[in-house]
Amino acid sequence: MSTSASTPAPAAEEPVIAQRGPYKVQLLAGYRYAWCACGMSKWQPFCDGSHTGSKAGLKPKVFTQDKDQVAFLCGCKRSAKFPFCDGTHNKL
Ligand code: FES
Ligand code: FES
Repeated sequence: MSTSASTPAPAAEEPVIAQRGPYKVQLLAGYRYAWCACGMSKWQPFCDGSHTGSKAGLKPKVFTQDKDQVAFLCGCKRSAKFPFCDGTHNKL
C-alpha cells in the first residue's frame, strides 16, 4: 500500500510569551549576555537552558554589551529588534 499523500509541515512553534512587556535591566560593558528567545527560561529575560526542551529549535541571542546601559529587553519574544523591546507587545 502506498502512502503518497503529502503530510503538511508542522507549524513553527511560537515562543512562549514570558511577559507582555519588557524587562528593565542594567547591562554592563564587556559582559556577554544570552537573551532568552524561547520564553521558557525561569531567569527572564536571560537564558537558563530551558530552550533545550523546545521542539522549535529556538536558541538564545548572545551579545556582548559595549557600554554600561539600562536597557529594556523584550519579554514577549516577538520584537523585530530583539533582544530589545520595539513595542510589538502592545499588539498582542
Ligand atoms: Fe516584546 Fe516589547 S516586550 S516587544
Ligand atoms: Fe529560552 Fe534558552 S531558555 S533561549
